[in-house]
Amino acid sequence: MTEEKNEIEAKKDFTIELRKDMKEKFISVNANKNQFAVDLDKLTAYQLAQLVSQYNHFPKEIVSFLIWARKNSIKQNWHAVTNELTRNIGEELGTQSLGFTHYQILLDGLKNGLGANFHGSFPSTYTTGFVNGITNVMQNESAEFTTGAAYALEASAVPELTIVQAVVKKLFLLHNEEDMQDENLISFFKNHLSEWEPGHEEELNKASKQYIKTDEQKQQFKEGFFAVMKTMDTWWSGMASEIIGLQKEPKGEIK
Ligand SMILES: [Fe+2]
Ligand SMILES: [Fe+2]
Repeated sequence: MTEEKNEIEAKKDFTIELRKDMKEKFISVNANKNQFAVDLDKLTAYQLAQLVSQYNHFPKEIVSFLIWARKNSIKQNWHAVTNELTRNIGEELGTQSLGFTHYQILLDGLKNGLGANFHGSFPSTYTTGFVNGITNVMQNESAEFTTGAAYALEASAVPELTIVQAVVKKLFLLHNEEDMQDENLISFFKNHLSEWEPGHEEELNKASKQYIKTDEQKQQFKEGFFAVMKTMDTWWSGMASEIIGLQKEPKGEIK
């Protein structure tokens, strides 16, 4: 496709532009900028385990985030959005994984493979900030805003999980001195990356476009989308400063 044609396509399909912006501007989804991806070879098993113990709060809370987003689509009678969010919530709770929730599969895989129990891991201030921040975004009264916010969670899932998968694989290598072997964990990542998350993104994208039509609506959708991405980036850079210790000396006068 020529560049000109690409531009015309992007104007027609505003989510193309959003996904492009997301990949360029946000460290959560950019392996060239995310400190955990950049420093992967320098990190210790302890640091990687710290990240996993914080990250698992996201799959733990995802259903609650999606339920919040669905409240507005129900109120607006946006059936296609409501149905897709319901399908997505069902998947998180096990419709495609023999009744095991995705969160449980992740925790069990980590426990079987590493002997480490991340269940009940204590959320850091940044993780609590992330969970409260996304919940807050999802409580916005505008359905356009919260649908855009839910769409950000889905559109960012593949690139973010790709980084998380690399972290988990490296943790296995350092801890067990062999590749990640746990079959459930291997299929957790494979299914999310190749099937579940691309499906969530595509279906929510299609469903949203049945209702998000005017420039005003697109603007609100975008604002919800970026509100989620900013909250995710604050979390990831917070985890980097806590875990990798990138916190720079505060600038300004030395007293
Ligand atoms: Fe999932
Ligand atoms: Fe998803």
